Amino acid sequence: MRGKFISFEGGEGGGKSTQAVRLAGFLRSKGLDVVETREPGGTQQGEELRDLLVQGDPDRWSPFSELLMMTAARVEHVNRLIEPSLAAGKWVICDRFLDSTLAYQGIAGGLGLDMVRPLQAKAVGDTLPDVTFLLDVREEAGLQRAEKRGGAARFEKKQAEFHSKVRDGFLALAAESPNRIVVVDAEDTFDAVWQQIEGEMKQRFKL
Ligand SMILES: Nc1ncnc2c1ncn2[C@@H]1O[C@H](COP(=O)(O)OP(=O)(O)O)[C@@H](O)[C@H]1O
Ligand SMILES: [Mg+2]
Repeated sequence: MRGKFISFEGGEGGGKSTQAVRLAGFLRSKGLDVVETREPGGTQQGEELRDLLVQGDPDRWSPFSELLMMTAARVEHVNRLIEPSLAAGKWVICDRFLDSTLAYQGIAGGLGLDMVRPLQAKAVGDTLPDVTFLLDVREEAGLQRAEKRGGAARFEKKQAEFHSKVRDGFLALAAESPNRIVVVDAEDTFDAVWQQIEGEMKQRFKL
């Protein structure tokens, strides 16, 4: 049987990486074969592009260049890792996927969804997440957490206004796809955030 595809989305410091690890442990405890991966990245090609994208000056790349590199990384990721894993019955947990490109480059970056969406459809084909957890936090709270984590990455250095657009963008995407995108209140404790995710996973996939 085909595996399930789960993505985590949201701005900086929402707890995506933290909760993705927790979800992987939960699914393995149910005897499932799990692949943990991330974007940009997940393949050698994608990780090379990631280094270009997440390091350096915030204005190093225009949103259009970012879109093309993010999408190139995604094409390799879908074709080489995500789709073969799902076909082999593995459950794939991805830390960011196409909604990040819609929110960061399409909405906050100003390229527009009309331009970004068709390219994403070409890039991923039918490989869409079965469920997406949007870890929603106020941008100040998220950035504060991300700062504590250290190693301020390129996107974290963008202006507050950018991050506020990212958050609003994600929430608008969630409102458009209420069946796929589950909004999680991520400003709560680790355990309270996890409980929202666990509850949804149990109900949705009968785990
Ligand atoms: N619910 C939470 N409450 C307090 N701190 C958290 C919570 N979730 C994550 N953190 C901390 O915030 C920082 C960012 O979390 P992380 O999972 O890396 O976020 P993201 O991957 O969304 O950027 C980490 O130091 C993490 O330990
Ligand atoms: Mg992370």
